[in-house]
Amino acid sequence: MSSTELLDQRASNEGTARIHRLLPSEPWEPVTLAAHLDQHGALVQHPSSEQWREATVGEIERAGLVGRGGAAFSTGRKLRALLAHRGRPFVIANGTEGEPASMKDRVLLARSPHLVLDGAALAASLVGAAEIIMVVHREVSESVDAALAERRRISLDSTKFRVVTAADGFVAGEASAVVNWVGRGVPIPLGKAPRMTERGRQGRPTLVQNVETLAHLGLVGRYGADWFRQLGAVDEPGTMLVTLAGAFVTPGVFEVAIGTRTSDVLELAGGPSTPIQALLIGGYFGTWTPASAALSAPFSASGLGVGLGAGLVVAFPAAGCGVLETARLVRYLASQSAGQCGPCKFGLPAIAEQLELVAQGVPVRYEDLTRWVDEIEGRGACGHPDGVARHIRSALDVFGHEVSEHLAGRCSASERRSSLAVPTQGVW
Ligand SMILES: Cc1cc2nc3c(=O)[nH]c(=O)nc-3n(C[C@H](O)[C@H](O)[C@H](O)COP(=O)(O)O)c2cc1C
Ligand code: SF4
Repeated sequence: MSSTELLDQRASNEGTARIHRLLPSEPWEPVTLAAHLDQHGALVQHPSSEQWREATVGEIERAGLVGRGGAAFSTGRKLRALLAHRGRPFVIANGTEGEPASMKDRVLLARSPHLVLDGAALAASLVGAAEIIMVVHREVSESVDAALAERRRISLDSTKFRVVTAADGFVAGEASAVVNWVGRGVPIPLGKAPRMTERGRQGRPTLVQNVETLAHLGLVGRYGADWFRQLGAVDEPGTMLVTLAGAFVTPGVFEVAIGTRTSDVLELAGGPSTPIQALLIGGYFGTWTPASAALSAPFSASGLGVGLGAGLVVAFPAAGCGVLETARLVRYLASQSAGQCGPCKFGLPAIAEQLELVAQGVPVRYEDLTRWVDEIEGRGACGHPDGVARHIRSALDVFGHEVSEHLAGRCSASERRSSLAVPTQGVW
């Protein structure tokens, strides 16, 4: 892309939240390899040059790219950790997308597969990987296969790619669960230590990176850190994909510059379809936030004061019952644990039951509920209980008035239908 085109891109993004770095502007047309190479050219790599590796990782650090899979960890730091290791690592592209209401990874892989594949190829060249494993949601595995076939026809990649259909279930996308799924066919987390970057697949260092992160990585590899930073906030640079779900006129997946006013982000989906009371920001592990506080704030972790997770934003109607919604979600999340740690095995089902009683207007000891939430935190082999605890705490806070009503046997909601997808199948 020439600098004039870059300036044009900035100008066309001014005054609007609509951006097309990752997703093409034509709806639902996958970008072919020919069109992709036409737009971006081939990604230049010098895997045998130590200097090239250093310079490229330095550029990625300078770009300030952080993971788009939920934890917002620095991609540059992760790559640097891999550079320090000897041995033939693996690269795993995580397109599991276990979050039921999120669609962004599937949309990205279906529409711009070559951006992700480029990013994975670049990561593999940087760390000297033996193999790249694309773990992708079943709905897009054919698209990824087709894109790889296009690349093989012109011998584009030097590292071997393999496609693995992701396992179902909320926890299946956790990094060590993905490694376990690829290696043993068991999508259960392996625990927090050792880090996957030290000992992952087959005991070798393994880079697990979300597919959107890889798409950004490929673009930074081409256009550099300054280009990446042209959009986004100074402390949270770049763009990100968001899934706007729940009470929107046209829910869907959109790309936004981080730091855009939150109300402008919501307008991409036509705005709320009904008056809303709250937004769930960051997904099912995310944080409920009052709509009034969020709308004028920049859409960034520092602007909203909450993590953006994997970019899921749910609009919750003013007429809905936040207590009932939370009870439904927590019951689902409790059903998703691998059941191998105390907080998940005993804590989550007990908390879900308490919340269901509150939702039904049955009096419970509120102190027990909050104490149990405190007790599950930090005690699991993965971040599942911590994510659920964060979600519940914010719900008890934002829907505090409704909780008090329920504890007194009343419900002020006029709408008791669920706003959020809670799958009943595909869990183990
Ligand atoms: C319970 C749980 C589920 C997760 N599910 C996903 C997922 O579906 N996709 C994903 O990319 N990351 C998921 N993650 C985050 C991964 O563990 C890991 O941080 C991420 O894939 C790393 O890539 P990134 O740095 O590019 O974000 C999950 C984490 C937890 C604790
Ligand atoms: S904390 Fe829960 S989900 Fe995570 S490994 Fe333990 S039982 Fe499984």
